[in-house]
Amino acid sequence: MEKTFLMVKPDGVQRNLIGEIVSRFEKKGFQLVGGKLMVIPAELAQEHYGEHKERPFFGELVDFITSGPVFAMVWEGENVIATARQMMGATNPKDAAPGTIRGDFAATVGKNIIHGSDSPESAEREIGLFFKEEEVVAYSKLI
Ligand code: CMP
Repeated sequence: MEKTFLMVKPDGVQRNLIGEIVSRFEKKGFQLVGGKLMVIPAELAQEHYGEHKERPFFGELVDFITSGPVFAMVWEGENVIATARQMMGATNPKDAAPGTIRGDFAATVGKNIIHGSDSPESAEREIGLFFKEEEVVAYSKLI
């Protein structure tokens, strides 16, 4: 079963949106199999966002993502990587459709509430950066 890495960013945590966001993915039918509230160390933030290190906003991005607690999560389900991206909406909230998380709750590209892996390779890499193997649980097959 496919897994993805999702993270409520510091703006989402401060605005008390963890419950709303978790609820959307639960109601969709996905399963939360890992979760932790944490302040990301600078080195981890730089590694996580490594593909953006040449971008002019890289410093701002790392400062922001380390500025307060985030809620890091692993979600499981069929086609969860692409479906979660659809549910999040476009990276820039000005392009995000109403009904999506960013369309409903975010206004600027820097503070866009949520991060989600964009491919199976990113999902595997990002889950590995944030979670130890034993921190990702398996649900009982009986339920
Ligand atoms: P995310 O999906 O977490 O991946 C990279 C992040 O970079 C992205 O969401 C945006 O929040 C952020 N980002 C993209 N463009 C800009 C920008 N021009 N200024 C600041 N942050 C940006």
